[in-house]
Amino acid sequence: MNYQTIGSTEYEASRIAMGVMRMAGKTRDEARDIVQTALNCGMNFFDSADIYGAGESSRVLGQALHDLGVARDDVILQTKFGIAPDFTGKRNGIYDFSRDHLLSSLEAELERLQTDHVDFVLLHRLDALCDLDELGDTMAHIVDSGMARHIGVSNMGPWSCEMLQANLDQKLEVNQLQFGLCHAGMVRMQMHEKMEDDAAADRDGGALSYAQLTGMTIQAWSPLQYGMFAGTFIDNEQFAELNGVLAQIAEERGVSKEAVAIAWILRHPARMQVISGSMDPERIRAIAPGADVELTRQEWYDLYIAAGNDLP
Ligand SMILES: NC(=O)c1ccc[n+]([C@@H]2O[C@H](COP(=O)([O-])OP(=O)(O)OC[C@H]3O[C@@H](n4cnc5c(N)ncnc54)[C@H](OP(=O)(O)O)[C@@H]3O)[C@@H](O)[C@H]2O)c1
Repeated sequence: MNYQTIGSTEYEASRIAMGVMRMAGKTRDEARDIVQTALNCGMNFFDSADIYGAGESSRVLGQALHDLGVARDDVILQTKFGIAPDFTGKRNGIYDFSRDHLLSSLEAELERLQTDHVDFVLLHRLDALCDLDELGDTMAHIVDSGMARHIGVSNMGPWSCEMLQANLDQKLEVNQLQFGLCHAGMVRMQMHEKMEDDAAADRDGGALSYAQLTGMTIQAWSPLQYGMFAGTFIDNEQFAELNGVLAQIAEERGVSKEAVAIAWILRHPARMQVISGSMDPERIRAIAPGADVELTRQEWYDLYIAAGNDLP
């Protein structure tokens, strides 16, 4: 497993982190097995959110870490807040960056995770009604009181980051964004800049360049999915050409296709971290070697094209 610094912090995190969005519903034994497998593979970073399984994912993760006797300082814990869903399912809920909501959400997360602090807390999606002064005070309180060591955002473009940053005492260290071979708009847009085709459409305001300029770490979520949780592209006949190239490189490198797809993300000079969501111990073991594969320039572009992207 290779490791990387997160933003400008003191943290050295595994380049592949485990995301626990899909951990709710796992039994205590299953969760222990999943978390032990991740640790054995060198993963030391776990990403959750207050909304995953209505809090259940964090609770199952916290219990598994406790059951395994993992020392708090041996893992890096991250959670996200700011989305206040309506768990009755009648509507999507609201986004809420108010002090009351953020503090009560984080307190509940710390209890579920069985810890007194998280290492990183991210604002999940921008609340249109955010009071910037109130948010600045709240985030300062969260860090000063020791509830979280560092802060970041998720799903935000540069101008939202700048707007928030101007009102925050702490640097935004992380931006969690969807990125992968079948969600490659961030790099495709850069290479199509100034063209009149759809691929030139700027959907994130240049989040990738911004992260490289500011030293924020991009965390790539849903690295093996296409669409918004539509399914995986691995072994999916809709992506036959991509699977062919993945299989060829996987065979040459002696790793799985999943590992090659992860290596494609890690090859980018922005030094993104991957948030992998597999809950299958066998697949986790197949994914982890992706952190140690360095793709050639040719291989990276071959995969980019095979995924249905083009170059002008
Ligand atoms: N910030 C945000 O807004 C946001 C949004 C979504 C997610 N996230 C974070 O990103 C993490 C990862 O998201 P994700 O779970 O969507 O990522 P992912 O790693 O792309 O997808 C994992 C899912 O794909 C399945 N899968 C992978 N390879 C497969 C294969 N070869 N065949 C069949 N199924 C396969 C896995 O099944 P198995 O479990 O059986 O392996 C699992 O259900 C989340 O846990 C969360 O922490 C953040």
